Amino acid sequence: MRYPLVVLLVLLAAPGPGLARRSGGRFGGTPRRQFTDRQLDSMKTGWLEVVAGRNREASFRTSHDLSTTLFSRVRSQPGHALDFPKLKGKAAPLRDGVATPEVMKDWHGVREGKLSAATFRKRHPDVRATDVLALQRSVRNLGAPPRTGRAPLIPEDKLGRLRMLWPQVERGKATQKSVLEQLGIPAHRLRAYRKANPGELRPATRHPRPGSRYEQKGTYSASQLAAARELYARYHRGEIKDLKQLKPALKKLGITTTGQGLAYLRKLDPRAFCSKTTFTKQNHGAMIDELVRIASDHPHVIRKWSDLLELVGKDRQFNARFGKQNLALESWIVTKDREGERRLYSVMERIGTQVGKDSGPKPGTVSASHTRPEPTLATSTGPRSRRESARDLARALEGKTPSKSTLEQVVARLARDDKNLSSRKKWMGVRSEYDGVYPELSRWNFDAHRPYSLRYVARWTEAAHQAGAGASYEKIASIFKRSPEYREDGRLPPKRSGTAQMAQGNPELVSSWSTRRTYQRTRQLLELLRTAPAGETLYGMRGQLKQIGLSYRYAHKWLGQMSPAEAEQHGMKRVTFEQLKRGGFKGLGQARDPGFDPGAEPPGVDMKLVRDILDTPRMPPMLEYAIKRLDGRRPFEFQNVMFVNHRYSDIVSLVDAMARAGMEYSNATFVSTPYPFRDAVTYQLEKRGVNTIVPRQNMRSYEKSVEQGIRRMLALHEQQRQKWGNGKPILIMDDGGMASKIIGEKFRSDIGKFRIVEVTAAGHRLAREFQKQYGRLPFVYYSIAYTRLKRKVTSQFYGSRVADRVLNLIPQTGQKLQNKRACVIGGGPMGIYAGVRLREKGYDVTFVDPDPKAQRKLRWLKFDIKPIEQALPGRGIVLGMTGYRALGARELALIDSGAFVAQGSSKRNEFDMSAFERMAKKTELPRSDGLSQKSFTYSFRGGKKLHFLGDGWTINHDGSLHGTPMRDIQLELGLYFETAAQAAATPLGKTGTFREVTPQVQWQYHRMWKQLTGR
Ligand SMILES: NC(=O)c1ccc[n+]([C@@H]2O[C@H](COP(=O)([O-])OP(=O)(O)OC[C@H]3O[C@@H](n4cnc5c(N)ncnc54)[C@H](O)[C@@H]3O)[C@@H](O)[C@H]2O)c1
Repeated sequence: MRYPLVVLLVLLAAPGPGLARRSGGRFGGTPRRQFTDRQLDSMKTGWLEVVAGRNREASFRTSHDLSTTLFSRVRSQPGHALDFPKLKGKAAPLRDGVATPEVMKDWHGVREGKLSAATFRKRHPDVRATDVLALQRSVRNLGAPPRTGRAPLIPEDKLGRLRMLWPQVERGKATQKSVLEQLGIPAHRLRAYRKANPGELRPATRHPRPGSRYEQKGTYSASQLAAARELYARYHRGEIKDLKQLKPALKKLGITTTGQGLAYLRKLDPRAFCSKTTFTKQNHGAMIDELVRIASDHPHVIRKWSDLLELVGKDRQFNARFGKQNLALESWIVTKDREGERRLYSVMERIGTQVGKDSGPKPGTVSASHTRPEPTLATSTGPRSRRESARDLARALEGKTPSKSTLEQVVARLARDDKNLSSRKKWMGVRSEYDGVYPELSRWNFDAHRPYSLRYVARWTEAAHQAGAGASYEKIASIFKRSPEYREDGRLPPKRSGTAQMAQGNPELVSSWSTRRTYQRTRQLLELLRTAPAGETLYGMRGQLKQIGLSYRYAHKWLGQMSPAEAEQHGMKRVTFEQLKRGGFKGLGQARDPGFDPGAEPPGVDMKLVRDILDTPRMPPMLEYAIKRLDGRRPFEFQNVMFVNHRYSDIVSLVDAMARAGMEYSNATFVSTPYPFRDAVTYQLEKRGVNTIVPRQNMRSYEKSVEQGIRRMLALHEQQRQKWGNGKPILIMDDGGMASKIIGEKFRSDIGKFRIVEVTAAGHRLAREFQKQYGRLPFVYYSIAYTRLKRKVTSQFYGSRVADRVLNLIPQTGQKLQNKRACVIGGGPMGIYAGVRLREKGYDVTFVDPDPKAQRKLRWLKFDIKPIEQALPGRGIVLGMTGYRALGARELALIDSGAFVAQGSSKRNEFDMSAFERMAKKTELPRSDGLSQKSFTYSFRGGKKLHFLGDGWTINHDGSLHGTPMRDIQLELGLYFETAAQAAATPLGKTGTFREVTPQVQWQYHRMWKQLTGR
């Protein structure tokens, strides 16, 4: 054993100079060969000829007696790799010093055949084959290798003999194979020769040799032939792949497949036993008929050629007749139609489908619209994109204290090699376009006339309210200066006109400080006169007037000019004012009004709205993170966006984030879901310019509103098309699938203009049905409903919120909870988290869920699972969490009287409420938290009473301003935003699949959220 090991080690350690080390396998493999330096040298010269295009790789290998394996071993040796580069694939970069005029001239000579490769190597010993290959690819006009001089396909002498022998082949006296073998001509050469010289050396017509056994009829039995026909039919349909598979199957039937066998079959029944090519040719018309049928049946779901192919693959009729056919754009079947009758082609064009490179995307078709190339961030010093300029500017300004002069200095420095910043107008444009995605830029806005934000205005009113009745501008301003809104904006509203201007734009939020002062002082003055001791004169009230901030003379004059109508506006009855006037404005001695509030704001200012605006959360860190990830891209710039969503306060941030990433508020429509919400959210959206549609609380009105929204988006699209030739595609942020459903039902012809992002399981399910019904998903479709993040993390917020809201509401109704046993129907993510929360609060929870997968999870969490018949009786709380119809009249009978019934999925589908309404009398239940959602006791015949919290609507939407706290919901908002950005960047043609953000990105969001919230 020891001896061979030593030899092996010696061999490996010392390959010897100039020897290519090769590892010959012990069992077979390439025989060991060593190359001398001379051999290697001649190989290198030979390969240069190949690189120059003067020789082919195969003949190079033959002349050097190299197998492919051996050659690949040689060229993989580090010492030789540069002399044997691969001709295809990526070339190595061009080395410095190679592209000299001499090298280029000589290499040109080699390619032209004027200089030998050996001479070239001698003249330029440092230039290797890799270098000239790189040279060839990077420098044009090096001279194309001459095409002439190539060996003829078949050498003249062989061709002469072939021509002589060919009639034998034609007559069937000899086979083509034997003749070619005899002459040493490869079959592919003959094929190429025939192609180049059609008409010559035609293929032999196959027919049974005279006198052979196939001449006699009845060689095969009827059953044999029937079975063979079936095999052939399968072969034609592509179920049997090729002749290699067909022949053994025929052989099994006892049919001869060699020699004249198949030709005999063909003679018996030319149609049934025809070749595949003949089958395709014979059936071309019928296939095109079928394709036209399929295309015309699905115009709304076909956007591109592959969509048609997907439908053909699923079409039973086509498959039964023709099976798998090559229908690619360049295939024979399609090309024939395109170049001939264009029957299928014209249908596809009519639909507006992109049909091949030659016709290109037609203007106005969806596939052509808005596929703008991404601006790239080059590191070179070439012309910079606006995005690059914005990024440079933001980086240069970061950390500096904002001042006009600093800004000008920084811009002047950058403008030296950036044309986008070369004039004031230009850099202001860059800044205002990109300050959403590079928030640093927004700190440097010194425009004194920029509008005040709603939050700023609301904060001013709150400061005024805090400053008290009749407060002066200075007092209000000193309080306002302590607010974050002042810190952000840095401006005080100018004393003379600032608040008046604010009031003009937002009369619901603010009145000018002087109007407010006059209003409040007047009210106080009138109240003072009304309650002063009877008969006391105005002069006698000087002291009190001073407290209000009025002099006697001013008060006297003011009262003299006041009309009863004005007094009424300030809260005093006309008769009382007239009585005052008649008595010469002396005290009336009336009783004090305990409800009189001297600080009441002027009519029109809605303090609840002011507070709701200030309570609306600011943009959360997760959305800032999502924007930062864009690195300056503005994905919503070329989108019209429609939101179908809840109107909780957090949505304002999402809409704002999308606007920062390019969305125009005026190109957005917001349709609210049909639940009770606060008007503050609508107000804030409308004020930003978003068209908002609020349905009444029923499904019909909701459907109508969504339809109205879609119509508006399409009208906008059309306006844009007329203006610019192309409308922006419509991105729909859908909650519950209503928009996709309506588009499928009513807007099929416009289907390709939409991209959809879905949030809920219910909407996702609708899309699945849609896919089943129409054959394929016809739009770009993203869903976050079943992302890991939603299932594992955010469902928790909603699920536990459902349980919390039920438990909060029960004590407000004044009804007794029968027991602490609860039944949760539906063990999906939502149900599970509701169940977990109820259990934490001390409830005994039983689940109903027929799905084995859900059951496994529930068992693992140690929950009780029962069939509905056993789970409903004896429960004080019944909670529906399925998203489907969970309770009908039959199940209702199983619930104990006095139970609280609620649902936390969506809308009002979970229970058959309209049937229950017919069966029972409803009495409203009280609630003390001031929210607008109503609950009812249903009294059924026979005395049974059930308390339906939220009246069968989902309990999760009860009219509060906030849904899930922003701290938690920001994770889902971030994911929603990221999904929307990805959807916007997905070409409109990429339809047909359910897409979601990759798990890695979800994981990054989750990690970030955990860091931010410390959870
Ligand atoms: N209100 C909200 O804030 C809110 C938030 C998120 C999701 N949702 C909605 O809540 C619903 C449930 O969400 P999910 O993520 O758990 O969905 P899911 O589809 O994953 O789970 C539903 C579960 O219910 C079961 N189920 C279906 N029909 C049933 C029946 N008749 N009886 C018993 N079990 C039945 C299913 O087997 C499944 O396990 C969805 O409709 C979703 O859209 C609402």
